[in-house]
Amino acid sequence: MVLRIGHRGASGYEPENTLLSFQRGLRLQVDLIELDVQVCSTGQVVVIHDAKVDRTTNGTGYVEEKSFRELRALDAGKWQKIPTLQEVLDIIDRKVKVNIEIKGEGASKLVFDIIEMYISKRGWEWDDFIISSFNHYELLEFNRLTSKVKIGAIIAGIPIGYAECAEKLNAYSLHPSKEFINKIMVDDAHKRGLKVFSYTLNEPEDIERIKSLGVDGIFSDFPDRI
Ligand code: G3P
Ligand code: MG
Repeated sequence: MVLRIGHRGASGYEPENTLLSFQRGLRLQVDLIELDVQVCSTGQVVVIHDAKVDRTTNGTGYVEEKSFRELRALDAGKWQKIPTLQEVLDIIDRKVKVNIEIKGEGASKLVFDIIEMYISKRGWEWDDFIISSFNHYELLEFNRLTSKVKIGAIIAGIPIGYAECAEKLNAYSLHPSKEFINKIMVDDAHKRGLKVFSYTLNEPEDIERIKSLGVDGIFSDFPDRI
């Protein structure tokens, strides 16, 4: 069975990375929900994809330069606010597993503290989380904080050594883009004991093509199409 991963919630149906989008993902009974996090100037971990707020809200400027109060004044679509990581975890409430993608540099420690709190006080388990990033140095940092959380190495290319970079990180999974993925890489990852989750597949023919390579999971804005 290929895991159905709700990308930024179910962002084909609702504004990405908003509570509405995560609720929609839950209703579609995804196996895993993916979200992107960054840290704003006042230190809160917020759920938003781009470094700037321009594309997904009615504001302008960099997330890391804005206070939490400034970010909360913005409309992220359909009157939604940019949520905090904690608000999203509360909505998910352990119904499905969560893939937290670290976008902002230096977010590892703050994300780790939040996860640890949900484990010690709210009944979550380490296995409920996957931490991923394009920034593999950030993943190394996360690994230094704990080896109990699964690590997903995101790549957008076919590196020399195929899945070697993920193995070096002690990763659980390799997350290749649909543009750069082939059977050799998928087989190489499997030989190294890694799962393969590919992003971001929305067209039925793409989903079929990537499934045929033997991947273990697919990220989609329309997770019900998987
Ligand atoms: O984590 C998979 C995918 O979300 C990575 O790319 O740009 O959509 O965050 P992006
Ligand atoms: Mg992402």
